[in-house]
Amino acid sequence: MIESTVSGGVGVLRLSAPPLNTITFPLLDELRAAVRRANLDPEVRGIVLTGRPDHFSAGADVGLFRDIARAEEAVRMSRLFQDAFQAVEDSPKPVVAAVAGRVMGSALELAMACHHRVCCGTARFSMPEVTLGINPGAGGTQRLPRLVGAEEGLKMLLTGEAIDALHARALGLVDAVCEGGDLLESARTVLRSAPGPRRTGQCTGKVSDAAANEAAFQRAQERLAGARPEIIAPWKILEAVRAGLEESFQAGLRKEQEGFAECMGTPGARNRIYLFFATREAGRIPGSAAKAAARITKAAVIGMGSMGTGIAQALIAGGIRVAALDQDGAALQKAVERIRSSVRGRVEQGGLKPEAADGMLGLLSTAAAWREIADAQLVIEAVFEDAAVKRAVIGEIEAACGGETIIASNTSTISLDVLAAGMRRPERLIGMHFFNPAHRMPLVEVIRRDETPETVVAAALGFAKAIRKTPVLVRNREGFLVNRLFIPYLKEAFWLLEEGADAPEIDGAMVEFGFPMGPLTLIDMAGLDVLVLTDRVLSRAFPAHGPLSKVAVRLVERGRLGQKTGSGVYRYEKGDRAPLPSAEAAQVIAEVRQEEGRAPRRVGKDEITRRLVLRMANEAFYVVEEGIAERESDLDVALVMGTGFPDFRGGVLKYARDVGLGNVLADLDKLVAEHGARFSPCRLLRGTQGVR
Ligand code: NAI
Repeated sequence: MIESTVSGGVGVLRLSAPPLNTITFPLLDELRAAVRRANLDPEVRGIVLTGRPDHFSAGADVGLFRDIARAEEAVRMSRLFQDAFQAVEDSPKPVVAAVAGRVMGSALELAMACHHRVCCGTARFSMPEVTLGINPGAGGTQRLPRLVGAEEGLKMLLTGEAIDALHARALGLVDAVCEGGDLLESARTVLRSAPGPRRTGQCTGKVSDAAANEAAFQRAQERLAGARPEIIAPWKILEAVRAGLEESFQAGLRKEQEGFAECMGTPGARNRIYLFFATREAGRIPGSAAKAAARITKAAVIGMGSMGTGIAQALIAGGIRVAALDQDGAALQKAVERIRSSVRGRVEQGGLKPEAADGMLGLLSTAAAWREIADAQLVIEAVFEDAAVKRAVIGEIEAACGGETIIASNTSTISLDVLAAGMRRPERLIGMHFFNPAHRMPLVEVIRRDETPETVVAAALGFAKAIRKTPVLVRNREGFLVNRLFIPYLKEAFWLLEEGADAPEIDGAMVEFGFPMGPLTLIDMAGLDVLVLTDRVLSRAFPAHGPLSKVAVRLVERGRLGQKTGSGVYRYEKGDRAPLPSAEAAQVIAEVRQEEGRAPRRVGKDEITRRLVLRMANEAFYVVEEGIAERESDLDVALVMGTGFPDFRGGVLKYARDVGLGNVLADLDKLVAEHGARFSPCRLLRGTQGVR
């Protein structure tokens, strides 16, 4: 796990725990032993701690967190890491960390315990623990502020965002950046010029100004105002940093241990850790050894409307060469302009280097004729949602491209079997359902037909990962995963509206549950017409879902489609997206209630939450029962990434299991009695009564 060699008076300790050099307890033991041996070796004057030339370490094995059952175990784990890294810092001989790749979490904590740091020009540094809902537990809350100051340290600890090598150099996190040269040689140079060990725990220069520290704490606290209470990590980070700076390094380490144990005791952190593994698992085909034939580097996107534009941008951001084609020349030009200005916007905000932006835009070309897409290995169609149009386009793609080209449809509602009928090579068709906006949304549903060969499935999954998306594999059935669950949820919101709940009450309940926005605000953004159209397809496939409330249908008939028409469930002032109460929408709702002979009733927050969430959860169990998804956790990943279902609840099925399936079933039975068959639990759920 640690290879030790000595040359030219330098002991080189190389982490070697493939594939990622994750830090485990045995590795910590070896690290301590290796440092001790190097110190005892009279030939060694200084030590270099390094990993692979392109990758130092991925940090602590997250599996260790998952295995923690009790607070004492969490404290013990934190202490073991802290002590091992302290042993590195206490080394009498100077230690230089020579690091590359993404240096994250405990990997950075280890590097910070070394006396000096050099890195490759492409290295990136981050403390992402907070995104898992925990605080760093291996000295990171203490050493980072001492190296970069309280303000910058808190920023990294509280956002989890990465900084690049030059930024790290400017902040003082690393001493030297090795651009293209020999990293080990740079480390040797630092060792030669270093006067001796510089122990980070004893560095005070950047944190000696108490007023500046206090100002940094105040700013951090302001940034946290309004943060969800379910994730306590940010507050634990603040406490640990404060204790470290106002009391002592040791006091800070103790706070770190306690905070880590407290975080690990919260369902929020547990659920985020669960999702971390679920996301890693998503997109794997159980039991399959199928490999994609070749890496896809050349693609084409047909139909450059809102989806095609986002997809093309996602592809070039992932390093894929893209030919974009649209029957409408003006739409094509507009799409290219939108991509350019979006990429330029990222440069202006500092998220992208100008050279990288140029490189990305250089990958995009426009095609004026079908033959110009002939060399694409993958063609994604995102033309109008019309089976005849799509079939004609797929015919053109087949005629223009070779037999090996994979054709992916971004359809949201049309069965792939309908699109495959009449194809010359139907086995090359697959679904790749992106979410809007496609360049930002991380999820892609990859849809396989019964006839789709595993090599094609593997190629599509591999491609989605290559462009840094999370794919979930779905069988071809209407609505796939996300729409299948989410449309019933949106429909239920309209039933609640019809029965008497206010739109802000409905939206407020779901925001309180943890969604970034409520269902009615969301549908106003997406377009009520889209709901009506999608529901038409889903209702045919799933008659038990029941009809869409007349309220939604009537709003569409009145031209109230949402933000795009300035009014939907809410009204909008020109140029402003803030939803405002609408007297006309209230009038429509009153009309429908009168026609239906319905007296409005007061609907409590609990009922709103229960009905909306259970509508989704119940449908999720149907999906599991039908074998549409590969595994239950895929549904959790899909809902969190595709709809904003709160990650601290672990996703829809994890939530249902935490509530208890017996309770879910009892609630559903009650809802069936009150509201009808759309709440009927599936056989799978009935069979698990009482089971957790
Ligand atoms: P859109 O109407 O914005 O764009 C469609 C584009 O396709 C237009 O630019 C049109 O000129 C072009 N087009 C139509 N027929 C063509 C042909 N024969 N040859 C070449 N280009 C042609 O549509 P949007 O919203 O981008 O949707 C595209 C597809 O993506 C649809 O299948 C839709 O169901 C699906 N989708 C849409 C989502 C959304 O939120 N809008 C989300 C996920 C999937």
